[in-house]
Amino acid sequence: MSDLIQQAVRRRDFLRWLAASPLLPYLGGCDVFSAGDAVAQEAPRRALDDLVGSAAEALDIFDMEKVAEFVMPPAHFGYIQTGVDGEETQHNNRAGFERLYVRPRRLVDVSTIDTRVTLFGREWQSPIIVAPAGSQRAFHADGELATARAAQARGHLQVLSSVSSTGVEAVNGARGEPVWYQLYATSNWDVTQAVVARVREAGCPTLVLTVDLPGNSNRLTQERWKRIDDRDCASCHREGGQAPPVKPMYQGTSYQPSDFRTAGMTWDFIGRLRGITDQRIIVKGLVTREDAELAVEHGVDAVWVSNHGGRSEGSGRATIDALPEMVEGVQGRVPVIVDGGIRRGTDVFKAMARGATAVAIGRPYLWGLGAFGQEGVERVLQILQTELEITMQLAGTPSLADIGASSIGAGS
Ligand SMILES: Cc1cc2nc3c(=O)[nH]c(=O)nc-3n(C[C@H](O)[C@H](O)[C@H](O)COP(=O)(O)O)c2cc1C
Repeated sequence: MSDLIQQAVRRRDFLRWLAASPLLPYLGGCDVFSAGDAVAQEAPRRALDDLVGSAAEALDIFDMEKVAEFVMPPAHFGYIQTGVDGEETQHNNRAGFERLYVRPRRLVDVSTIDTRVTLFGREWQSPIIVAPAGSQRAFHADGELATARAAQARGHLQVLSSVSSTGVEAVNGARGEPVWYQLYATSNWDVTQAVVARVREAGCPTLVLTVDLPGNSNRLTQERWKRIDDRDCASCHREGGQAPPVKPMYQGTSYQPSDFRTAGMTWDFIGRLRGITDQRIIVKGLVTREDAELAVEHGVDAVWVSNHGGRSEGSGRATIDALPEMVEGVQGRVPVIVDGGIRRGTDVFKAMARGATAVAIGRPYLWGLGAFGQEGVERVLQILQTELEITMQLAGTPSLADIGASSIGAGS
């Protein structure tokens, strides 16, 4: 447990003891001194009293979010939290799930619950994938290595970001097998070739090409959190006109910061990639039926429905609401993965009911990482998996294949 959390927990325990003590009225000579007053006087931020002191104590993933907010540097926490504009799209990703309800069936044999899913011939114990997220050493010193160990320990598929703070070889080493690799191709073909060759050499079987950030996105929440961070950021970020440090996966290539955006990328790019690698290619960041159909026509191996967790365009549309038209467009020809706003096992269930083959999570495991490192990520995965199993049992759906369109309904 970190010193900060220990302090918070000790203070919380003291306040609880004080509030329950018969001596309370006599302490400090106050005429009127209720338990509520004690908390109000001693704890300017009431929310801190709710902090869990260890990963094991977390009851849901939002317990992790609170600790992450408390222990992480504000600018780095803001980088996790941010969506775009006024957060409408990120909000709707959640609201989309909340509008759906589960339609449980009774008197079904649910003595065994089976959450296994097969993707490209490989069986996974859970349909929950660890989504790619950059710069994880900004959240915890062990960064991507902690995530890799946690995902492996709990048996989850993991995708490594192009802008990771640790190179793919070390991450594969920590995991004990190659991860899937998310590709920000950049606008420089030489860089793309070099990165793909390196990742292929490292044994990664699958490239996840992210296509939803051709240019900048309007991340206001991140800017607001930066403003309350009084640390010297320049020592890490080399601010003041100097180029930021080159991320490990672009080191040794001809990468320049101006290459990062891919405004000129079109569907031909899939063919170009096919020309340099035999790895599977998945396209991440699609949200319309038209693009789902085009992706399959261009021979991709899977479609990943995503709006980058509400961090790309401020479309205002929930990915869970885009999912049905994507599934229709794909027509079962390739797997469909979805992410955005999955925070409960019931959300996983609802996504499967709308036709997803598997789902992915971003912020929940990053909160776990920021809060407690590897243990935090493991606990987040455990919580979501347990919640999914509970939901499946109570809904009368013993296996993922039993979850269908009639397993859920839509409220207003
Ligand atoms: C801090 C952070 C960093 C991210 N970095 C990447 C990235 O490098 N590449 C990528 O394809 N997606 C990235 N994403 C998007 C995630 O892969 C995923 O699509 C999204 O987080 C899912 O939504 P959720 O956070 O609501 O679960 C990032 C998301 C967050 C929150």
